[in-house]
Amino acid sequence: MNYKKLINELDKSKIPRHIAIIMDGNGRWAKKHKTKRINGHKEGVKAVRRIVETAVEAGVEYLTIYAFSTENWGRTKTEVSYLLKLIMDSLVKEIDELIKNNVNIRFIGSREKLDESYNKRVMETCKKSWKNTGLHLNVAMNYGGRKELLDAFNEILADARSGSKLDGEITEKIVSDYLYTAGMPEVDLVIRTSGEERLSNFLIWQSAYAEFWFTQTLWPDFSREEFIRAMLDFQQRKRRFGTR
Ligand code: IPE
Ligand code: IPE
Ligand code: MG
Repeated sequence: MNYKKLINELDKSKIPRHIAIIMDGNGRWAKKHKTKRINGHKEGVKAVRRIVETAVEAGVEYLTIYAFSTENWGRTKTEVSYLLKLIMDSLVKEIDELIKNNVNIRFIGSREKLDESYNKRVMETCKKSWKNTGLHLNVAMNYGGRKELLDAFNEILADARSGSKLDGEITEKIVSDYLYTAGMPEVDLVIRTSGEERLSNFLIWQSAYAEFWFTQTLWPDFSREEFIRAMLDFQQRKRRFGTR
């Protein structure tokens, strides 16, 4: 079915506010097509483009995509440097179009291990979009859920020691406010492609009550239609949050 028709089937009052996507399977896509892994990543960028556009059309408020994990440093030097460059180049290439679509984009993750010049360039490029009021697109770059929590705890500790704020006990609200996603709604729906069914250290705090949706489709093949089907499926779920 044409994806525009499918979008009309969505209940507009029940669009997941925050969708998180673990974009997996670029390497296997490349293998299947008898080409280099890097070509799988390149093809994966095209999928990002269509999924972001579709999220805008569907009226999703927050979309967080897993681009590079704190564990991905363990890949070969060639693949790591290719990925870092591809992510930066894609941001620079797409920023004008994203701005035109009223997208507000930010990178979330640790700044450690990345060059200061890299972080600066990301920040300066993203900044141009911060007045936008449409989709909030978070690119999880050098992101790890445990690292995010450790960063939060250490900042809480520092603030408590300096006595400026935080003199009572640590609450869920305080932890949430120190995460990279401070001020954003919790994750409603986690999508993972390529048949793997695990979180791989992605948004572990924010996904505590998320719905999960898995598909065998490899990330470069993930279509607008399938993305909308995941949202339609989400709309059929009965979320109970521990109540009966
Ligand atoms: C996801 O594809 C992209 C990143 C992790 C950066 P993979 O590179 O993990 O692809 P597979 O899992 O090897 O197929
Ligand atoms: C998770 O995928 C990270 C990203 C999609 C960026 P991986 O391919 O790195 O995860 P594992 O190793 O299969 O758990
Ligand atoms: Mg993988």
